[in-house]
Amino acid sequence: MKTRAAVLEQFGAPLEVQELDLAEPKDGEVLIRLVACGVCHTDLFTASGADPSGYSPAVLGHEGAGVVERTGDGVASLAAGDHVVTLFSPQCRECIHCLDPRTNLCLAIREQQGLGYLPDGTTRFSRDGEPVRHFMGTSTFSEYTVMPEIALAKINPEAPLDRAALFACGLSTGLGAAMNTAKVEAGSTGVVFGAGMVGLGAVAGCRLQGAETIVCVDLSDERLELAKGQGATHTIKGGPDSVQEILDLTGGFGADYTFEATGLVSVMRQAVEAARMGWGLATVCGVAGKGETLDVVPRFLITGRRVAGSSFGGVKGRDQVPQLIERYLAGDIDVDPFVSHKLTLDEVNRGFELMEAQDGIRSVIDFG
Ligand SMILES: NC(=O)c1ccc[n+]([C@@H]2O[C@H](COP(=O)([O-])OP(=O)(O)OC[C@H]3O[C@@H](n4cnc5c(N)ncnc54)[C@H](O)[C@@H]3O)[C@@H](O)[C@H]2O)c1
Ligand SMILES: [Zn+2]
Ligand SMILES: [Zn+2]
Repeated sequence: MKTRAAVLEQFGAPLEVQELDLAEPKDGEVLIRLVACGVCHTDLFTASGADPSGYSPAVLGHEGAGVVERTGDGVASLAAGDHVVTLFSPQCRECIHCLDPRTNLCLAIREQQGLGYLPDGTTRFSRDGEPVRHFMGTSTFSEYTVMPEIALAKINPEAPLDRAALFACGLSTGLGAAMNTAKVEAGSTGVVFGAGMVGLGAVAGCRLQGAETIVCVDLSDERLELAKGQGATHTIKGGPDSVQEILDLTGGFGADYTFEATGLVSVMRQAVEAARMGWGLATVCGVAGKGETLDVVPRFLITGRRVAGSSFGGVKGRDQVPQLIERYLAGDIDVDPFVSHKLTLDEVNRGFELMEAQDGIRSVIDFG
């Protein structure tokens, strides 16, 4: 079949929306009709050429939500008409990591996914017979995509898909960092550095866990206002004095839980230093630049602070994304303020521009 898709042809150049051939789903694969897709930093990071593992031509996009069109042989958990959220972090439910509650890093298809192929080592996208590679196992900047069954979360069809798409990446990452990785306890104090999609999700996650004091740190007043809407009880303008301000707010001790959602190693260090002596846990969500390292004075660790990293919020996607969607439908998570712009697929590069200008939290492509 044919599909229109935004293709990365050349690093640093705009994506090119064009018609591609899309092959039928093979064993264990599913054909999805996309309804909505968020535009995320990781897409831009790859498109810009800054990601050393990037490749082209490839169909970008990974914050997708859509409807199952057809299933390949052997697909048991999904059927035509099911509503799904795409998962760049799959869940095979069989590998040693899937069977362990401590991690969501499924081992089943990592290698081929990283190279831009479906699990059998081939692509379903092509142009004039030449393969066009997949991206993050999702390639959701396309009217249709083919994905492994293990990388699709079946969700309640009542959830609007332009809201559900945000659970494919940033929002679940932030929520999960607080709910799964840190397991924030009721009555505690949480500090979130960064009020983008991930940080705002972490603020909401702290609130859902019953944190009593939630401090959000960002450079933008507008974003700090959004953080209040998600449950922040205090806001701080970010800078070199942030740690001292947090210590002042917490009787000199620091917070029970801190979260870093900026991607800056200097802020990761602040997150460690703002965590409480004795038991404070700093959870790192941001993706630092290649080769950058986190500088921590070891004394902070020996006096009881801990550091954890969180990929996709530790969320086991097929099990837990549907649960997060249920909490959204129950009114526990206010997703509307995050959808700042609606775009067509042809306007995908505008989504990158809006992101670079920090105009709104998320642009969402509406496939109509
Ligand atoms: N771990 C994962 O699985 C995962 C998933 C998605 C995104 N990420 C990463 O999470 C990070 C955040 O993503 P996002 O989409 O929310 O990004 P974003 O750019 O929208 O938000 C980052 C925020 O940090 C703020 N900031 C910058 N300097 C600051 C400072 N000194 N103090 C406090 N705040 C500061 C900015 O004002 C901005 O609001 C990125 O590094 C992204 O790559 C990780
Ligand atoms: Zn993303
Ligand atoms: Zn697995």
